[in-house]
Amino acid sequence: MAMGPDVVRIAAVSDIHYAKDSHGALQPLFAQITESADVLILAGDLTDYGLAEEAKVLARDLTTTVKIPVVAVLGNHDYESGQVAELVKILADAGVRILDGDTFETRGVGFAGVRGFCGGFGRGALGAWGEPIIKQFVHEAVNEALKLESALARLRTDHRIAILHYAPIRDTVEGESPEIFPFLGSSRLEEPLSRFDVTAIFHGHAHKGKPEGATSKGIPVYNVAYQVLKACYPDRPAFRLFELRTTVSHTDGVTPIADRRHWGRRSTDRGSAAQQPQEENPSPS
Ligand SMILES: [Fe+2]
Ligand SMILES: [Fe+2]
Repeated sequence: MAMGPDVVRIAAVSDIHYAKDSHGALQPLFAQITESADVLILAGDLTDYGLAEEAKVLARDLTTTVKIPVVAVLGNHDYESGQVAELVKILADAGVRILDGDTFETRGVGFAGVRGFCGGFGRGALGAWGEPIIKQFVHEAVNEALKLESALARLRTDHRIAILHYAPIRDTVEGESPEIFPFLGSSRLEEPLSRFDVTAIFHGHAHKGKPEGATSKGIPVYNVAYQVLKACYPDRPAFRLFELRTTVSHTDGVTPIADRRHWGRRSTDRGSAAQQPQEENPSPS
């Protein structure tokens, strides 16, 4: 595809939940991504149980197929087995940039990423009051928000892109059971995003959420959970694709380009996930 040097194409997906038996499961999708985009965002829940063995399967599929930079955050599932350090090393050795309050820059676009945390939204957000364990819970979200703020502040690029696993706004978790909204994200994550000139925000975690929303300041928020994309855009491969112009005003924002492309559905892309993701409701995604 002929593209000027001032255009960066960003592909995004999350919650691919790679399992021990996922060998090759998303290679058709990864191949389409690598043909279409300049950088790939993976917004957490890369693995199903946070096992090093699962990360090895994913690492092998990525290194075989994906020839563009991959920038990622971890999700709650990646923490499940207490093997985070090993998991990060396996994926880093495969060239994946795992952001945990870190930044990554490519071709004039800066990425700031954190896992984020939960606690709820708006007036329903849990406050740091009462028992120490409640304060500790709330402080986790506050700490993630501070890490995000610090990462955003370090970026000097025209565009700042934020990557989280948990949702920073309520809009994009709509569709899930309201009872579990507090476990799907936190408004505390929205605060730093509003203080910086962020072009777009990507997250996952809410498998039954809504694909698009916006912060109170109008910053576009995309829930790119694989399961959401499959449900909302059944005629397209399960990733979002955006283009960013880096030599014009950042106020141009990101442009979803999948909508005006013809996506021929490949037989290999039919209904697949790395495995059929175990939808975790009512437990968090
Ligand atoms: Fe999750
Ligand atoms: Fe998930």
